[in-house]
Amino acid sequence: MLAAAPRESGFFRFAGHDHGSEMPRVIFHDTNGRRVEVQAPVGNTAMEAAVDNGVSGVVAECGGACACATCHGYVAEEWLPRLKPMEEMEDAMLDAAEGRRATSRLLCQIEINPELDGLEITVADNGG
Ligand code: FES
Repeated sequence: MLAAAPRESGFFRFAGHDHGSEMPRVIFHDTNGRRVEVQAPVGNTAMEAAVDNGVSGVVAECGGACACATCHGYVAEEWLPRLKPMEEMEDAMLDAAEGRRATSRLLCQIEINPELDGLEITVADNGG
């Protein structure tokens, strides 16, 4: 019989900080003016984290294929250097998006990892 893997004791987690967690926090400012703090599984995208938690304004028409730009958001400036640089395709899609800024990214191209705990994103007007 397979024994369950021992879980982290939790001893160092009591203070409420969750750095290095498998469920990093992502803070969205949605198109309804709400601040929505979610926990996103590592390996999911910021788009999935938004859609799964009912963050308004993330339409994600293409389902994450980098082909629609309706997951456009503005990443808080201090987080930009911690994201992987964008690929040409994302850049081209953003050129076609409304309201592109220097902080613009497609949320389906941001993969959540433990170092992104606390990532803050304002959802753009994606027409949804
Ligand atoms: S969901 Fe379509 S480009 Fe991100």
